[in-house]
Amino acid sequence: MSLSLDKSDISTRIGKLTSIADLEALRISYLGKKGLITLEMKSLSSLNVEDKKIKGQKLNEFKNFLEKELLIKKNLLENLVVNEKIKKEKIDVTLPSRDYQSGKIHPISQSIFKIIDIFSAMGFSVESGPDIESDFNNFTALNIPSHHPAREMQDTFYLDSNNSHEEKVLRTHTSPVQVRTMLNSKPPIRIIVPGRTYRSDSDSTHTPMFHQVEGLLIDQSSTMAHLKGCLVDFLKDFFEIDNLNYRFRPSYFPFTEPSAEMDVAFTKKNNVIKIGEGDQWLEILGCGMVNPKVLENCKIDSKKFQGFAFGMGIERLSMLKYGITDMRGFFNSDFRWLNHYGFNPLDLSTISGI
Ligand code: PHE
Repeated sequence: MSLSLDKSDISTRIGKLTSIADLEALRISYLGKKGLITLEMKSLSSLNVEDKKIKGQKLNEFKNFLEKELLIKKNLLENLVVNEKIKKEKIDVTLPSRDYQSGKIHPISQSIFKIIDIFSAMGFSVESGPDIESDFNNFTALNIPSHHPAREMQDTFYLDSNNSHEEKVLRTHTSPVQVRTMLNSKPPIRIIVPGRTYRSDSDSTHTPMFHQVEGLLIDQSSTMAHLKGCLVDFLKDFFEIDNLNYRFRPSYFPFTEPSAEMDVAFTKKNNVIKIGEGDQWLEILGCGMVNPKVLENCKIDSKKFQGFAFGMGIERLSMLKYGITDMRGFFNSDFRWLNHYGFNPLDLSTISGI
């Protein structure tokens, strides 16, 4: 192709270009290392001062003109390409959206969040302990010596004790964390312990693994009245009801003295249980004043300190709150069950306190 340094000539040529590649080729032929303008610029050095000035000026002017024209054309061609693409790539708004599945928060987790939330507001902190416990923490320190009939109350999973001198068990309740906490810290103590517990039992209201939340408060002056107030406040908040009919029944636990069980009133309509009022009673938790023997076992001076403890089943609380009738559903890992009873993790209003 013949190259000229004529402005109208180059304008016509640029006008006829139809692709970025051709434009680039033209640019190189003028402005590239061996391009016409580059070579012409180089040849200036052989001219005399006067000619150099005139030709140099002309060349520069042409170069600026060319660069400007190329840029304009380049933008034009690029726009054409984009417009072409937009024309071809139509968005089909009638296309069904892609299916997505989000995870759900298990009702047990949801209950634990809520329980922590309520007790935190009362000044309790959260403790935890291992699922595999020593016989001492699970029983002996809690005033349940070996061969004591109270051990029969709980169908224990014993673990092989070949390698250790002390028998290990899957903890049958969260109460061993009372022992751990008392041995490791000084009163005042105010803790709750949500966690997994194990008993060899299985039917529609029992599963071999289940959850409890333990409560322990030790100071110099707390009484049974404080225990009652604390539990009533908790249950009203948990079930979101003002009218809570309840009763404390004397009971027996080796680690509390006196001991009680708490029942709440309920009604059942169309197989749905409603907590609060009614003439039927449902046992909901065990509690009592910490037995001085337990305090002594845990190196706390029982002449100086006293307090209360309670323990409740989280499955039972969840079944009542969320209307779940069969306990086995909690641990079948059935996605349909979780989808039905679970909670949307993105719905912050389901997490109390937010
Ligand atoms: N650990 C008892 C149980 O599992 C519950 C309990 C805890 C009772 C604390 C009294 C005090 O049945």
